[in-house]
Amino acid sequence: MTRVLAKSQAHYRRALTRMPLGVASNFRFWGEDRTIYVKYGRGARIVDLDDNEYIDYRMGYGPAILGHADPRVDDAAREGMKVGGVFALSTEREYHVAQRISKMVPAAELVRFSNSGTEAVMAALRLARAYTGKDDYLILEGSYHGLFDAAMWYTPMDKWTQVGDPQVYPYSEGIPLSTRSFAHFVQANDANQLEDVLKRHASRVACLLIEPIMGNCLGIATDPGYLRAARELCDRHGVLLVIDEVKTGFRVARGGAQELYGVNADLCTFAKAMGNGYPISVLAGREEVMRKIGRGVAHGGTYTAHSVSLAAAERTLQILDETDALERIADYGTALRQGMSAILKSRGIAHSFVGHPSMSGLYFAHDPPRNYRDWKGSDYTFYDAAAKVLHDERVLCEPDSREPWFVCAAHDDACLKQTLAAFEVAIEKTLSTLGERRQAGG
Ligand SMILES: Cc1ncc(COP(=O)(O)O)c(C=O)c1O
Repeated sequence: MTRVLAKSQAHYRRALTRMPLGVASNFRFWGEDRTIYVKYGRGARIVDLDDNEYIDYRMGYGPAILGHADPRVDDAAREGMKVGGVFALSTEREYHVAQRISKMVPAAELVRFSNSGTEAVMAALRLARAYTGKDDYLILEGSYHGLFDAAMWYTPMDKWTQVGDPQVYPYSEGIPLSTRSFAHFVQANDANQLEDVLKRHASRVACLLIEPIMGNCLGIATDPGYLRAARELCDRHGVLLVIDEVKTGFRVARGGAQELYGVNADLCTFAKAMGNGYPISVLAGREEVMRKIGRGVAHGGTYTAHSVSLAAAERTLQILDETDALERIADYGTALRQGMSAILKSRGIAHSFVGHPSMSGLYFAHDPPRNYRDWKGSDYTFYDAAAKVLHDERVLCEPDSREPWFVCAAHDDACLKQTLAAFEVAIEKTLSTLGERRQAGG
């Protein structure tokens, strides 16, 4: 059945009169005719204003790990509501949630709460700078660590000619160019380059800020050997290793990427999956570093550890820690990969999957990418075209090929069957439209 978006389109025109782009976040604007508005979400599905029901693989960019509106978490949140919100004072539950986090993530010796991933990473960078007394930081090319100035540098690969290094631009207007000199960029999986940069700049570098599975860049995974080398090089050069687990945390393993790789951070950040969608995040880490907070380093915020989010996090983490939810999520992700792969293989389409099955990147080239520059070598225009057809077929993946497909515990066999049927249609339609366009020289 053809997808009708009449109500979303009408709402878009109304919303535009009061909100830039008619949405609450730039990433939610998908064009004048294709921006959709959600009526509600349940489990692995969301329903838009026109009553189109989609199988969701964006899951809010990762948070809804148990599924949208999981009743166990929502019940806990209601209990949290009874506590009363925020008081500019602490509550007992903070300690219990901190205890759970420390149990699941050994590197999280001490814990502080915030509201969003951005806030937690901002605090991590400030703390790393304060602890080391240095201002610069290293980040991986193609990484995303939130919407704050220090993290908002990007290398637009579409503009890169594949000769020399791609240029780095501010991700937005309004970012002072004078702050650019603090950031140094390294490529994922190149330990020699990392060593070289550290040898030259370590006296000025506070930390390496890294997402071992790049959740905003196809899900490109660093090799375990690379992450171990990064740990060792940071130690050797007096640089803190800050692992951003905003997406991987409590998802790729109970102890996040750090458990998966067997590497502990000095500081680590969590958000998304920890609250199943309720706004809460964490800065955690080694006691000696974390004790700087309150002894020279500021940290806080009016809404920090809100009683509703905190109660939701307590329940979500308990479920993730004590049930087989994460194993089921990974199994579904693996089955999804296998099903998609069979469809693509039967049509001779080169492809590979990257990252963890719970947050897979689908990449249209034979060998999986090892760094952001490899993305340039894939047929991403094919992905972009197929994603649009998938939306019409009621499968909601990210329209940008650099964002992985998120799986939640509510994705079930019915979702899988429906997704693969839609995927087959999308691939067929994309092949014929792009084939026609390419034949016509378009
Ligand atoms: C790795 C990483 N760090 C930080 C952030 C920022 O989190 P938030 O959007 O909650 O501010 C994101 C968001 O996608 C992320 O993926």
